[in-house]
Amino acid sequence: MQVGLEAISFDVPKYYVDMEELARARQTEPAKFTLGLGQREMAVASPCEDTVTLAAGAAQRLIDTYDIDPTSIGLFIVGTETAVDHSKPVSSHVHGLLGLSKQCRVFETKHACYGAMAGVAMASDWVLSGRAQGKKALIIASDIARYGVGTAGEPTQGAGAVAMLVSDTPKLVAFESQYQGYYSSEVMDFWRPTYSKEAFADGHYSIQCYLDALSGAFSMYRDNYLSQNPDAAGGALDKRFAACLYHVPFTKMAKKAHQRLLECGFGEPLAKDDPRQAEVAADFSARVAPALRINAQVGNIYTGSLFLSLFDFLESQGADNVGKCISLFSYGSGCAAEFFSAEVLPTCAQVMAQQPSADILNQRVKISVEDYESMLMRLPRRISMPPRPVIRSVGISVGPFIYTGTSEHKRRYLVKPHQDKTEAPGAQQAAR
Ligand code: CAA
Repeated sequence: MQVGLEAISFDVPKYYVDMEELARARQTEPAKFTLGLGQREMAVASPCEDTVTLAAGAAQRLIDTYDIDPTSIGLFIVGTETAVDHSKPVSSHVHGLLGLSKQCRVFETKHACYGAMAGVAMASDWVLSGRAQGKKALIIASDIARYGVGTAGEPTQGAGAVAMLVSDTPKLVAFESQYQGYYSSEVMDFWRPTYSKEAFADGHYSIQCYLDALSGAFSMYRDNYLSQNPDAAGGALDKRFAACLYHVPFTKMAKKAHQRLLECGFGEPLAKDDPRQAEVAADFSARVAPALRINAQVGNIYTGSLFLSLFDFLESQGADNVGKCISLFSYGSGCAAEFFSAEVLPTCAQVMAQQPSADILNQRVKISVEDYESMLMRLPRRISMPPRPVIRSVGISVGPFIYTGTSEHKRRYLVKPHQDKTEAPGAQQAAR
């Protein structure tokens, strides 16, 4: 039986800031953010957008674009590390907003940026076990990455959601479920205490933890692959991948990751002046960089970052890679990681053509660094009473759902009656 992705979609907040403008506001050389970190723009969630509205927006787009029968969904998981409640899962809010079937298993998963990957793996096993009985699994990765104004992590913020349909009738990629690579280790590289709305990171250490986890997960994958394909021993296993996709907290991280993957093949780390560095750079440009375009415009969306890169790959290169195999690496701080692979299917291009990423990204509105700061400053940094956004226009979000505030300790959401074409209000208005 085949199992894999039947459809994929994403949603982003209405607003974004330009990274060069952000750098100048922080008295930093713009090249540090654009070249050093590899980011062009950073998505900013308004007070009317949260993990629920982004998740619901991504899923609604998937359902509408591909005419998915909501009753065909038998398993629904939201992976997030920026949930809105300690008890009620984001998935229940979204289940209600989308009007999904009550005969559906619904829950939320958390393990930093690995949360949605855990959902995809669970869904894949559910289908393979035969328990799905023809039903599909809807997996959404949704997060708002916040480190705070002026912190080292600030230029690696972002927000967004990716919705994926996993089934036994995949149209985009078929998972190579027979090959698996995991890695887990208790590390304190990135965390967000329950009293804080902003994350904390031991930034440079977190990069090392990510790379160690990649080596560990790939090593298990390689052992697993070679035990089933002994003839492949001796060659660099990464060569079987037409593209290598990674968790992308910032696009430069994918470059560091790819260097590490190739070093696993070389059997040693490369010195800066090693002549093989040219080969590594060219390989990154060919097999990784083309799928980082959307990530560079959105920023870190935590658990959805890998899948945003997957969307980019399928849209821009899927047609040229039918029948070929790609690798995917998910990393969640704390930490848990997974390395797996998938085969690109012939229907990929036809499916992806139905929702160009540009149509989604072009609905966004650029705001000034001042508006972004005032928006962020109005949100609580520590857990306290929530803000009560006042809706001035339904054009406040890209997707059809809006968080209207909390009353009686209950979060309230609004479904837009139609897409508002009017110009979005300024950030200060939105945050009032
Ligand atoms: N022109 C070009 N490049 C420049 C430059 C300039 N003028 N100035 C600096 N740079 C380069 C640096 O050389 C560096 O590149 P290399 O890493 O290739 O050497 C890059 O810009 C960044 O510079 P710094 O390392 O000095 O940056 P920093 O210390 O201010 O912070 C960071 C970088 C640690 C990533 C920080 O943004 C951070 O803490 N981010 C949050 C944590 C994070 O994203 N960790 C990633 C791994 S953990 C994970 O993946 C889970 C998750 O999603 C959070």
